Amino acid sequence: FVPPGGGGGTGGIVAKDALGNDVVAEEWLKNHGPGDRTLTQGLKGDPTYLVVENDRTLATYGINAVCTHLGCVVPWNTAENKFMCPCHGSQYNNQGKVVRGPAPLSLALAHADIDDGKVVFVPWVETDFRTGENPWWA
Ligand code: FES
Repeated sequence: FVPPGGGGGTGGIVAKDALGNDVVAEEWLKNHGPGDRTLTQGLKGDPTYLVVENDRTLATYGINAVCTHLGCVVPWNTAENKFMCPCHGSQYNNQGKVVRGPAPLSLALAHADIDDGKVVFVPWVETDFRTGENPWWA
């Protein structure tokens, strides 16, 4: 057992909400319904979306909100079911896969694990399940 964020080798960190508090999965799911995508603070301080699946569980991945074009934070658009960058119009599907440029790449992923009830982001170094390719960010 390696404690999350304990300075060990895993590089995991506990997700923080907008107020800087640790994200507790059970509490989060009380306040965030199916399909919700809300920003938290993730790895390296990057804004990272937590995703609530349609069955009211947390997705096992978080989506890094930093646009792969020039780095704007990309808002979630519920009506369009996409992430839509306000800077130059790039679009990403509901899993962060790029569907319209100029962004050249999909949004980065992180694992969203639950440890001791808290959401812990861990670097994603495996194949990108959306593209079948190696992760460009690892
Ligand atoms: Fe997002 Fe340019 S920074 S489209």
